Amino acid sequence: MSEQIEVVFETAAQGKVLSQYLQSRARVTFIRGPLGSGKTFASCQRVFDQICEQRPNRNGVRKSRWLAVRNTYSDLETTTIKDWKDLYCNDDMPSLGRFIGSTPPTHFLDFDLEDGTRVKAELIFLALDRPDHVKKLRGTQVTGFWLNETKEISKAIVDMCDGRHGRYPSAADGGPSWHGMIGDTNSPDDDHWYYDLAENVKPDDWVFLSQPGGVIREQVGKNSYRWVPNPEAENINNLPNGYYIRQVQSKSDDWVRVNLANEYGSVSSGKAIYGSTWQDAKHTSKYELLAIPRFQKLLLGFDFGRTPACIIGQLMPDGRLRVLKELVSTGMGIRTFMDLVVLPCLKEEFKKFPISGMEAYGDPAGTAKSPNDENSPIGILNDEYGLTTYPTATNKPKQRWEAVEYFLTLDIDGQTGFELSSACLVLRKGFNGGYQFRRLNVSGERYADVADKNSYSHPHDALQYLCQGAQGEINYQWLEQHQEDSHQTVIADSVTGY
Ligand SMILES: Nc1ncnc2c1ncn2[C@@H]1O[C@H](COP(=O)(O)OP(=O)(O)O)[C@@H](O)[C@H]1O
Ligand SMILES: [Mg+2]
Repeated sequence: MSEQIEVVFETAAQGKVLSQYLQSRARVTFIRGPLGSGKTFASCQRVFDQICEQRPNRNGVRKSRWLAVRNTYSDLETTTIKDWKDLYCNDDMPSLGRFIGSTPPTHFLDFDLEDGTRVKAELIFLALDRPDHVKKLRGTQVTGFWLNETKEISKAIVDMCDGRHGRYPSAADGGPSWHGMIGDTNSPDDDHWYYDLAENVKPDDWVFLSQPGGVIREQVGKNSYRWVPNPEAENINNLPNGYYIRQVQSKSDDWVRVNLANEYGSVSSGKAIYGSTWQDAKHTSKYELLAIPRFQKLLLGFDFGRTPACIIGQLMPDGRLRVLKELVSTGMGIRTFMDLVVLPCLKEEFKKFPISGMEAYGDPAGTAKSPNDENSPIGILNDEYGLTTYPTATNKPKQRWEAVEYFLTLDIDGQTGFELSSACLVLRKGFNGGYQFRRLNVSGERYADVADKNSYSHPHDALQYLCQGAQGEINYQWLEQHQEDSHQTVIADSVTGY
């Protein structure tokens, strides 16, 4: 006999993102947040809500089967099962059904709802370090998966789960009214499958939610910051006072970033060049930024050499820099890069912007002619492509980094002065640590004082020239001189042509 449940388990969501997580019915929804932000609690609530929502069969029974997956058995027992039982299987409440504690642990939910229907559901807890559990995972018809601490679960298992929901309840019972996956996790590193799916691939009908950090950076002085409590943090009412800020002192900065501030981790071993001024959540737009035609001018930053890069941005009237696009290539000179990469992109994505109205900036070393070319890269852009291109005032690294940091730390009425389009994946990973000072092979934490040359450095160099140019740090004399020279050449050519 099951008891009739009259208490509706409704605890108000403890924040905006938690509430989105509870309400989403997309095929896949994952929530990423700091420690203690109420993620696991919310996952339990969602599983419970959804087993009650399953459409009843013709006998009025709401059938469903959920699998709760965790990486190890000890984590499964000490956290996943414990959290579930605290909420839905404790002595203070009417029984919702039997909980069988072994092979594998399963809650057989069985109770009546006020509307006269009955819930009959299974929640099976599986650990990936148990071969018999994995076998069960492969062989069970499932309505929904709950991937607890999602980042600990391999992509292969996630793919397998995604191919296995939807076959329970059977058609005879009306089929599942919803099926899919949910999951909660702390932030992974930015080379993790989760990052790639959430920030790059973005599959249809997969929702990736991100909670505010428990702490945020407060800028102190130009190049340093400290962590302060985030007034936007979720689930704060259920945590001890000062829960987040108390943990800051004893922990490494990298640990704080990931576990308390909810920023993606970086696997680079060096020191991030913009480590003290870059804030991923603040500076990266959730969306692909589009050029705003009203502000006619597009600004381009170029890095030359055999791994050319071009960054496209727009400076807004209020002084904000919007970085719209990154173009990177390897093994080609400037002409091939323009013909195969830059021009096709401009034609396709920036149709409304004539080249004659753009302005580009590049490494001042790009005014030098190479031994086997009669023109320099900057000369080529000006003369052959009609793109007004200036060498910047200096290519000293310190000044170039400062040009970027000017925008990163610029505050316009509480809004950031630097916005990076979500399409700029390489720049973003570079900001998050890929663009770095290399760690020196000596004892202690010592780093080189020049940027490591790697796949992130070229687009970052191009961005620096763009930021210099956007602030007017350019070598105007060169252009004037160059224009005079080309004018002379034209006259000379036309004279000899006669
Ligand atoms: N809606 C809620 N009502 C009451 N307590 C909650 C609620 N959500 C979370 N908690 C409590 O807050 C703490 C952290 O929640 P938890 O879900 O474990 O966080 P996370 O999984 O994000 O680390 C736990 O003690 C949990 O019981
Ligand atoms: Mg948790």
